[in-house]
Amino acid sequence: MGVEAVVLAAGAGTRMHSALPKVLHPLGGRPLLAHVLDTARRLEPSRIHVVVGAQSERVRACFADRPGLSWVMQESRRGTGHAVGKALPAVSDDATVLVLFGDAPFTTSDTMTGCIEAAGTGVALACADLPDPYGFGRVLRDGDGHITGIVEERDATEAEKAIAEVNTGVLAASKPVLLDLVTSLRPDNDQGEYYLTDVVTLAVARGLPVTGVPASAEESLGVNDRAQLARLERIHQRREASRLMAEGVTLMDPTRVDIRGSLRAGRDCVIDINVVFEGTVALGDGVHIGPGCVIRDSSLGDGVRVESMSSIDGAAIAAGCRIGPFARLRPGTDLAESVHIGNFVETKKASIGAGAKANHLAYLGDASVGEGSNIGAGAVTCNYDGVDKHRTEIGNGVFVGTNATLVAPLVIEDEAYIGAGSTITTKVRREDLAVGRGRQRNIPGWMPPAKRKRKG
Ligand code: UD1
Ligand code: MG
Repeated sequence: MGVEAVVLAAGAGTRMHSALPKVLHPLGGRPLLAHVLDTARRLEPSRIHVVVGAQSERVRACFADRPGLSWVMQESRRGTGHAVGKALPAVSDDATVLVLFGDAPFTTSDTMTGCIEAAGTGVALACADLPDPYGFGRVLRDGDGHITGIVEERDATEAEKAIAEVNTGVLAASKPVLLDLVTSLRPDNDQGEYYLTDVVTLAVARGLPVTGVPASAEESLGVNDRAQLARLERIHQRREASRLMAEGVTLMDPTRVDIRGSLRAGRDCVIDINVVFEGTVALGDGVHIGPGCVIRDSSLGDGVRVESMSSIDGAAIAAGCRIGPFARLRPGTDLAESVHIGNFVETKKASIGAGAKANHLAYLGDASVGEGSNIGAGAVTCNYDGVDKHRTEIGNGVFVGTNATLVAPLVIEDEAYIGAGSTITTKVRREDLAVGRGRQRNIPGWMPPAKRKRKG
């Protein structure tokens, strides 16, 4: 008998007050739903059904790269029980059904497995004791400790609200049992919805075993509003920081680094405060990241130093490079070993050869720079003519003087020199000096107008 997961993700997320469906709100840079699906996949269920409703196309599009998901449409959202009822026809008759909530990203695979194993001929649900159970369904038990039902916050009496044990939302039962119970649900509650939680009372009435599977408080947390989202984000970041430190990374302050995606780091990296990593980032050994940097979808080789307030996006940076402070590396930047990119330098679609330097105030876009070349302060590649982009190709050992304006398309061959302040529009041959600027004129004894007036 196989396991099939049913993930509920159709809710509008009213309490988020958002144009984005709740399950697409990011946690650690990935949609809430992605966390649940990844954990569910670890159990290797025979199928995963996802119930969608609010902006279903948008949710499906977000997971288009995950083949094999079974999408179920819940046109009108009439509660969690109604959502499960919509999915059940797609589930095999001999399957054990594992119900998961798309807004509870920390649910562990152990808890999921625990519920599947405990379901038997009845129902198993994961329960947790919370210091602040506000908003959750409370677990009701009789004098012998047997579960008798679940009451939602808004339907609960004051005495029931004082119960600390909550329903996490993870539930398992065989398909026939769940189908029978879900078909019997009635919307007689404060919201007029078909509550999945009412299957517990129904199961007890039918004499079916109901088993509570203990879950941790942290994994039970769900996202219903922005404050809860922020709280879960901090927990996720704390976990990521602990993982990095356990792998040999020094974090100057583990509470002031954010990983929104996946970060792999070698040994002895040092990450200063307020650094944000986005997408997929890989750091070699001994990489040093200064305070206030943002690094997205990039790889940084061994011993790279990034000084404060630099922004790096879509860049491949080889060992020994020095970046910043205040550098901006944009997508398509490819730095060979030991390149220096200094303050207020911007690069885009630029390959820079080993040991080359652009230390101050330059723009290198749609460009290649050869080994050991030096790009002076204020040098700019003029890559855009208003319609098309053009390339600037700079050879090895080239010296580009301060404030040079390099009008692309342009080739500057090896060992050439570009005079400071030049506007260069045509090819510069190997070892030539190109000077493209007005000649200096000195006018002897020149008097400014004010001085002339005074002299009468
Ligand atoms: C639910 C539980 C509550 C539990 C809590 C745990 C019910 C009635 N209540 O409350 O006992 O303590 O989760 O987090 O089950 N959804 C649909 N279709 C619908 C309604 C909801 O797919 O018609 C989805 C939502 O997208 C969400 C999940 O079901 O992912 C839970 O719905 P939500 O409205 O967040 O329920 P809670 O109030 O959190
Ligand atoms: Mg919820």
